[in-house]
Amino acid sequence: MKIFKNILYWFLIVIALIQFIPVNRVNKPVDEKVNFVNVFATPGNVQQILKKGCYDCHSNETVYPDYAYLAPISWSIKNHINEGRKHLNFSEWGTFNKDLKKNMLENSAKSVKDYSMPMTAYIAKHPKANLTKAERVLLSGYLEEILKSGKF
Ligand code: HEC
Repeated sequence: MKIFKNILYWFLIVIALIQFIPVNRVNKPVDEKVNFVNVFATPGNVQQILKKGCYDCHSNETVYPDYAYLAPISWSIKNHINEGRKHLNFSEWGTFNKDLKKNMLENSAKSVKDYSMPMTAYIAKHPKANLTKAERVLLSGYLEEILKSGKF
């Protein structure tokens, strides 16, 4: 019993201490000149789907949930956001070259259609991100239209 108490004691101390390790949750400002939805004047209904489904991880407009403030969960969340932004960042769209943009459009449309995005673990905490079939058809169709136009 004493050992168990000791372990618990040290565990709580470690949890308390790691709260002091800083996690950067400051979003970079969004520049309208390179922001996807401004560049393409994306219709409001499509913007809404992007915002609720993709923006927390693929834009500089991340909204952090309360549990994102508790280490070590916060580290895992920030890691997902960093990874997500590295693969695709709608806020910095205009800064990517044409090949990257083509890839992003193709992969985004595909990931929405095959239900690989938004990530399942995220949907569990954000029911609104559980996009319906109709929303998926609308978003993927919109992305494919841009792709087909060649103007991106
Ligand atoms: C909870 C965070 C999160 C959300 C929400 C999210 N993604 Fe992702 N996404 C990631 C992460 C992390 C990666 C990189 C690792 C991976 O591929 O699983 C990624 C990768 C991607 C990639 C690159 C895949 C590749 O093959 O290179 C695309 C495209 C993508 N996401 C599109 C989307 C779209 C579109 C949405 C909204 C419908 C979305 N994601 C929602 C976290 C997220």
